[in-house]
Amino acid sequence: MALRTLDSLGSLAGKRVIVRCDLNVPLKDGVITDDGRVRASLPTLNALIDQGARLVVCSHLGRPDGAPDAKYSLEPVAQRLSELLGKPVAFSRDTVGESAHEAVAALDDGDVAVIENLRFNPGETAKDDAARRAFADELAALGDALVSDGFGVVHRKQASVYDLAEILPSAAGLLIATELDVLDRLTENPERPYAVVLGGSKVSDKLGVIEHLLPRADKILVGGGMLFTFLAAQGFKVGKSLLEEDQIDRVKGYIATAAVKGVELILPVDAVMAASFSADADHVVAPADALEETAFGASGLGLDIGPETAKLFADAIRTSKTVFWNGPMGVFEMPAFAAGTKAVAQALTAVDGLSVVGGGDSAAAVRQLGFRDDQFGHISTGGGASLEFLEGKKLPGLEVLGWQ
Ligand code: 3PG
Repeated sequence: MALRTLDSLGSLAGKRVIVRCDLNVPLKDGVITDDGRVRASLPTLNALIDQGARLVVCSHLGRPDGAPDAKYSLEPVAQRLSELLGKPVAFSRDTVGESAHEAVAALDDGDVAVIENLRFNPGETAKDDAARRAFADELAALGDALVSDGFGVVHRKQASVYDLAEILPSAAGLLIATELDVLDRLTENPERPYAVVLGGSKVSDKLGVIEHLLPRADKILVGGGMLFTFLAAQGFKVGKSLLEEDQIDRVKGYIATAAVKGVELILPVDAVMAASFSADADHVVAPADALEETAFGASGLGLDIGPETAKLFADAIRTSKTVFWNGPMGVFEMPAFAAGTKAVAQALTAVDGLSVVGGGDSAAAVRQLGFRDDQFGHISTGGGASLEFLEGKKLPGLEVLGWQ
């Protein structure tokens, strides 16, 4: 069965439409530092406004513990949404209580209200089916239909993502449709050579995707904090760098499989070693086989790929026709350790083919480093979701919308 799209819901004029977005944006002191996910939600919201629907926008933000927590309020997001839509957006301080019902009842055709963080309610993320269902029923009372458009959260079996879509007439929004078009191009006959660049801190989060991609990609490049587990698997010492010792044997297996399958597994040849985890820490470049032979000895800590690796990665990326990248190469938030991530981003902008930045931290990184969204083929709004998609996993938030 194919994904149910907006058209399948018929005319939504005058109807109360719950729009499940992923407005989980990074905030610093209550200020949004990257509004990419809010902007990515606009095409669907505008299409519904143009139809004269009454929009009840909902989302999670962060991981509050199933209870209200002011630092995770969606209020700043509602304000930003109002600026971007160029029209007033009502905000309800509760999610499904009296003030939410009042805000929805006050909507006219084409109006928009945002309800408070879904995860302030334990039912949203409950593992227990009945508890989740009960919260979804409360949400359903606020709308006549559901448009599911939070691509970043489709890998979660949560009340607003899964159960609500079974209760109300539901369809995918334009963002989910766009994301799936691009991800499909990565899984169905990608133009070759196809390179996958993986970074980020936890190797255990990425092993599934590496395993799934080994027979499919032509090159797999490994950077970020997880590179040290790969270097340890090659027998190198890594000082106090991030290391998942319990994954070393599995990683050794992947290195061997890559060789058998003829996949180029491109591992770092050098790294930036620092005296401590701080923006002004002393640091020096060391070859991969001599990371402990710096002035910091065995207490040095790797915080970025080195310049030789950056060059190697940039060449491998630029000469590919399809590139998917997920996860920063180093601690890009600190300028001294941002060069590797910048080099990878720069190389992606030069790809003569499809370049995809896979969500979350990588999307924030490219914007923070001064790149524009239109320099890349696509910037996904889903980090975990796009990785699970590429891993070939079934995503509950898509299956419930008819995707197979
Ligand atoms: C994300 O940031 O990847 C999505 O918003 C999902 O958030 P979660 O990992 O807290 O479920």
